[in-house]
Amino acid sequence: MDCGVRFVAGCLLCIGLVGNPNGIAAAGPSFRRSRQLPCVFETSKTIPLSKETEIIRLNVRLLLSGTGSKDGQRSQPENLPPDNIPSFIVQESSVDILQYANEDINMLDCRISPYFTADTQIIWPGREIRASSLDSWFTCTIKHTAGKYTTTAFLVQEQKEENPNPGQLFPGIAERLHVSARLLLRTAPARLRLALAKDVRLDCAFSVDHRADVTIQWVLQRKGGHKQRLFTYSGSSKQVEHVGHRVEVALEEIPKGNASLLLRNTEMRDEGTYSCLVSVASLTGEQTIQLQIEEKPTVTVSVNSLSLIEGEQHKLVCNIRHYYPHNIQAQWLRESKHSWKVPEIMKNVLSSSHRQSSNGTYSSSTYFVLTASLKDDGHKYTCRVDHPSLQSPIRRSVTVEVREATSTAWLLLLLSLAVCLMGALWYHHKGLQPFLFKRVNYTHKWEHYVNRSARLSETT
Ligand SMILES: *[C@@H]1O[C@H](CO)[C@@H](O)[C@H](O)[C@H]1NC(C)=O
Ligand SMILES: *[C@@H]1O[C@H](CO)[C@@H](O)[C@H](O)[C@H]1NC(C)=O
Repeated sequence: MDCGVRFVAGCLLCIGLVGNPNGIAAAGPSFRRSRQLPCVFETSKTIPLSKETEIIRLNVRLLLSGTGSKDGQRSQPENLPPDNIPSFIVQESSVDILQYANEDINMLDCRISPYFTADTQIIWPGREIRASSLDSWFTCTIKHTAGKYTTTAFLVQEQKEENPNPGQLFPGIAERLHVSARLLLRTAPARLRLALAKDVRLDCAFSVDHRADVTIQWVLQRKGGHKQRLFTYSGSSKQVEHVGHRVEVALEEIPKGNASLLLRNTEMRDEGTYSCLVSVASLTGEQTIQLQIEEKPTVTVSVNSLSLIEGEQHKLVCNIRHYYPHNIQAQWLRESKHSWKVPEIMKNVLSSSHRQSSNGTYSSSTYFVLTASLKDDGHKYTCRVDHPSLQSPIRRSVTVEVREATSTAWLLLLLSLAVCLMGALWYHHKGLQPFLFKRVNYTHKWEHYVNRSARLSETT
């Protein structure tokens, strides 16, 4: 049985993948037009005699019944394609999935899962209490693959007899499930990148099939893992709680199904995952929006042009300031006069560490020592910086002019020769004289001595 399920599931997945190759972005019909969407049904199953669970995935179809399309074509069960793909047929109700997810079907990722509440029975107005104990609930999450929005519908199964295994869906057993949407939640976008000191609206909309007391919460999970509740609204007690003065939910918008959060004057610590939680009766829908702060770097080079003599050295510094986050790529390139030549990436380039300023942005520098050679004349040295906040890299260039060293060298040589000569002359002039004088002196002394001894010998 297990093997069979897995085999069939694998086959369905294969067929699904072949039939609907994701990634090849051929424009498909919109969900509103086609009124059906390929989905993956995901459920976990405990393996008998072990504590492990197994994830079962099946390709299914989400089908909107009713007369939605203009040509009057009804997506009724009798119109189902003759394949074995199980279908969730959504009956028309006041909660319209299309209202929140109308897009090219190739851009939508759809997952359906059984929805269980641990112990509490889901009691929903309009449904008999006795019958509701047997209700099977599902969540259907449709994500826009480019992150435009995410929507979750809570679906309840309408016709019991077709599914003897509540929440368990097996091919052949439940080929058609009639469901209807009771609660719908939509957040947009999935990810947000924002600079500092900006205002932003995190969209969260919901729709319920009856007038209900709704509880709304916004919770921020910071990067470090710390959770903070930013906003709470209780529909039954009409109690409202805002945390901090930079967040706001317009209360008059809540009855219209609009729980969007306004965040003002963004700071570094606003980064994280924002959850919008909407609870009605015992159902709680939760969807998240990722917020990331991004600051573009400012890039400057130490000089714009350089005039060097062959052999001379110069440190070329590229300063990169006030960016966030710190993953930055900086390179020095040597570019030829001839633009058709591929720039050469400089080696022996050093980078400083990232210094953080009080507002959380980083700064660093990247540099190398250029030893001028005649080959460099007319070349450009370019600092190229890339950062997640940039659409294309920033480039700052230094043009280099290198002059021949020969004329100067001759001048220097002549100059040093002249100095040597003068030094030698001076030495001869000043150093030889006293020596001669001393020689004279000695002779004089010697004569004196000789004379004296002669005189002495005369007297004796
Ligand atoms: C939801 O409310 C916000 C104010 O909090 C408003 O700016 C926005 O336009 C509303 N969205 C819709 C779809 O009405
Ligand atoms: C961050 O602080 C630096 C100075 O410490 C300033 O130059 C820079 O403009 C600031 N950035 C923002 C976005 O406020």
